[in-house]
Amino acid sequence: MALYFLLVLCIFGSARAQSKPPNTIGLGSSLHPTGQATAWYSASGHFAFGFYPQGSGYKVGIWLVWGSINTVVWTVFRDDPEISVDSTLEFIDGILVLKESNSAHKTVADSSESALYANLLDNGNFVLYNQDHKIIYESFHFPTDTILDGQKLPSGGKLVSSFSSTNHSSGRFRLMMQVDGNLVAYPRNLNQPVDAYWASQIYCTGCRNHLLLNGTGILLLINDTDSSVIRQLYTPLMQKERAIYRATLDYDGNFRLYSHEFNSNGNSEMVVEWEAIDDLCLVKGFCGLNSYCLRSDHNAPSCMCLPGSYLRENDPSFGDCQRNFTRGRCINGKEDTSIYKIATTANLTWEDPPYFVTSFLGKEDCGKSCLEDCDCDASLFDEIGQCMKHKLPLRYVKGAHEGFHTAFFKVSNLAVENPTTDSVKPPWVVILVLSISFIMYSGTALAFSGFYVFQFRIIKYRKLLQTGTTGLTKDFILRTCSYRELKRATDGFKEELGKGAFGVVYKGSFDKGRNLVAVKRLEKVVDEGEREFRAEMRVIGRTRHRNLVRLLGYCAEGSKRVLVYEYMSNGCIANLLFRAATRPDWNLRVNIALDVARGMLYLHEECEAPIIHCDIKPQNILLDEFLTAKISDFGLAKLLMPDQTKTFTGVRGTRGYLAPEWQTNSPISVKVDVYSYGIVLLEIICCRRNIEVTVTKIEEIQLSKWAYSCLVENEIDKLVGSEEVDKKTLEGMISVAIWCIQDEPALRPPMKKVLQMLQGIMDIPIPPCPSPSS
Ligand SMILES: *[C@@H]1O[C@H](CO)[C@@H](O)[C@H](O)[C@H]1NC(C)=O
Ligand SMILES: *[C@@H]1O[C@H](CO)[C@@H](O)[C@H](O)[C@H]1NC(C)=O
Ligand SMILES: *[C@@H]1O[C@H](CO)[C@@H](O)[C@H](O)[C@H]1NC(C)=O
Ligand SMILES: *[C@@H]1O[C@H](CO)[C@@H](O)[C@H](O)[C@H]1NC(C)=O
Ligand SMILES: *[C@@H]1O[C@H](CO)[C@@H](O)[C@H](O)[C@H]1NC(C)=O
Repeated sequence: MALYFLLVLCIFGSARAQSKPPNTIGLGSSLHPTGQATAWYSASGHFAFGFYPQGSGYKVGIWLVWGSINTVVWTVFRDDPEISVDSTLEFIDGILVLKESNSAHKTVADSSESALYANLLDNGNFVLYNQDHKIIYESFHFPTDTILDGQKLPSGGKLVSSFSSTNHSSGRFRLMMQVDGNLVAYPRNLNQPVDAYWASQIYCTGCRNHLLLNGTGILLLINDTDSSVIRQLYTPLMQKERAIYRATLDYDGNFRLYSHEFNSNGNSEMVVEWEAIDDLCLVKGFCGLNSYCLRSDHNAPSCMCLPGSYLRENDPSFGDCQRNFTRGRCINGKEDTSIYKIATTANLTWEDPPYFVTSFLGKEDCGKSCLEDCDCDASLFDEIGQCMKHKLPLRYVKGAHEGFHTAFFKVSNLAVENPTTDSVKPPWVVILVLSISFIMYSGTALAFSGFYVFQFRIIKYRKLLQTGTTGLTKDFILRTCSYRELKRATDGFKEELGKGAFGVVYKGSFDKGRNLVAVKRLEKVVDEGEREFRAEMRVIGRTRHRNLVRLLGYCAEGSKRVLVYEYMSNGCIANLLFRAATRPDWNLRVNIALDVARGMLYLHEECEAPIIHCDIKPQNILLDEFLTAKISDFGLAKLLMPDQTKTFTGVRGTRGYLAPEWQTNSPISVKVDVYSYGIVLLEIICCRRNIEVTVTKIEEIQLSKWAYSCLVENEIDKLVGSEEVDKKTLEGMISVAIWCIQDEPALRPPMKKVLQMLQGIMDIPIPPCPSPSS
């Protein structure tokens, strides 16, 4: 009877096949884990749908057939127990069902409509059709860890990595196509900005995007509304004729694009075309709790337990670590310090929020304080002198460059400790790149003092949460990087952007050309120790203001000193003022003058320790993409002149902008910068250099003298030629400039007053003659 029934179905099925596309799967077809019919194949034979072995049983899914290896790209019921050998997959009564011997039947391809036939398309999409030949189900709508050619990950969709390369149950990582348009990778079950380890860095409220692998190996983010391409994540250099592409969130947390190239004699080759992350140690959650990622040059990264912990037995590769001693009781709120000691390492750091932060403990005391505190399991002393105390578990512990952080771990006195991590090769550059990209995309330039870094970080974190956007909350901390890496980033110091008093500046890029930086190779630097240099860099790194060019990182290797700055796309104002064919807009010039004054005010009065720039000139004032003026090279003078308050033997600034006290051997103060600013202000107003020998009239050669005489004779219009500017503003600006260039330093106003006068908040008195003696 059963045989007869099957026979009828088969005839029925094949009769219908006449009107269907070839290679279809008709009603009545079935598959079994073993035997003849274990899978249905696509027309090309490159994809198969059916039973594949996993563990001691089977799973149903789709895989790419190549060589002797099958690459699973989709799994049905991935988190259900494995399927036993006596199960069947039947396409019957308009549905596809999985019949397991001792459990309920499960509908594999669920659709409200009844299906008439099925097909595994050549792109790996398994589809069901109704009797009108319309598609009523496609596996492409339910991705697991992979998207294939032509498949999209819709807004709100996600990929979940597999557990391992052979176990396709849900694993430890997740890639979310967020409804804010950003594609972000997280450890599974976590979705806070602090947990994200990779993001496409698209910030756009109300934008709904989808990810598409478009059939030619191009991985794109596309706007749902107008289908515009928002970002090409990857474009192959060369089109591969016979290749199948897939983008997979791999079990190790990396998002990779693969190509499988099939040649005419049936062989195939798999190539990783692109991967989101260069260093797996940066995948948050790659190592479990209380462990850290260790990477050696040739080997895959491995997870090590923190000092005082041991690796959990049941998951030796990346499991959580637990302490192998039980903590004693706290007596009268005091820790029994006889049973614990502190293990110190300078090579580890982490990002968890501490339960306690203070800036009033020295480095040694930071460890001691943890030892004595019953709540404390570990403490971290960071480069700006904050001591942060933490309880276990610690997450996302990573290698750190020595000297930046010191980590203290409370360990049992009895345990034999070996906390050093000598072979740690810190993944610095990638961290630098990530922080650069974050800084660039976050685009905020907030001034804050070193003590408030922590609070700032928290505020930033909250802000990200509130707006729903996600970023990598890389701490806003200066990074170090290797000379080799900077050499690579600048293509061997190839493209010169400019030359300054301290060395040549080169254009560089990180993150495959996405993030541009300016790399300055220092020359002529006082040969101070690496330690002092690092200390200096940290001071500069902490000096942050909208009108200061930001130091992002540096390298100090042997005698080499290289600084990495944010890239300023519009160059220095010298080009704008002296080389442009037409005079730049008056309002732009006024804004530049104000910007420079604000930056200088910050350097002189608002940052932790006053910084005398010593070399304010148009070549050191740069413009970003929004034409905001920023001062560069600040803080470097100190490297040349160790003590700024003393008298200098040599002149350091640039001729034409130097205050007279440089020549007279008098003490140097912030007023030397005010003098230089006065000259620069005149140059901004008049769009000419202070000294110009090509002018027709001899009295016009020196701008500072000419400007004063014009002011006295009420002929200031002459200074701007035919340009139409508001006379009152012009007069005010020239008067301020004349005040700034007074020979007598005490007569020059401080930058605060300069700014107030320029803003019109303060009246401008009539300036005296700048050089009464000459
Ligand atoms: C695959 O991983 C899942 C999730 O951890 C686990 O429950 C299952 O036992 C694993 N299967 C095999 C064969 O290891
Ligand atoms: C994407 O779509 C949104 C919503 O319609 C729109 O406001 C936005 O301008 C689009 N973005 C781009 C870059 O086209
Ligand atoms: C894939 O995207 C690229 C770039 O947007 C486009 O030029 C190409 O035509 C697309 N290919 C397909 C098959 O859609
Ligand atoms: C904890 O581990 C250390 C190092 O492996 C060992 O010396 C010590 O005896 C262990 N302590 C306990 C309580 O198991
Ligand atoms: C940190 O690592 C470096 C090598 O990368 C090593 O020389 C140094 O001893 C380590 N320091 C500590 C405290 O582990």
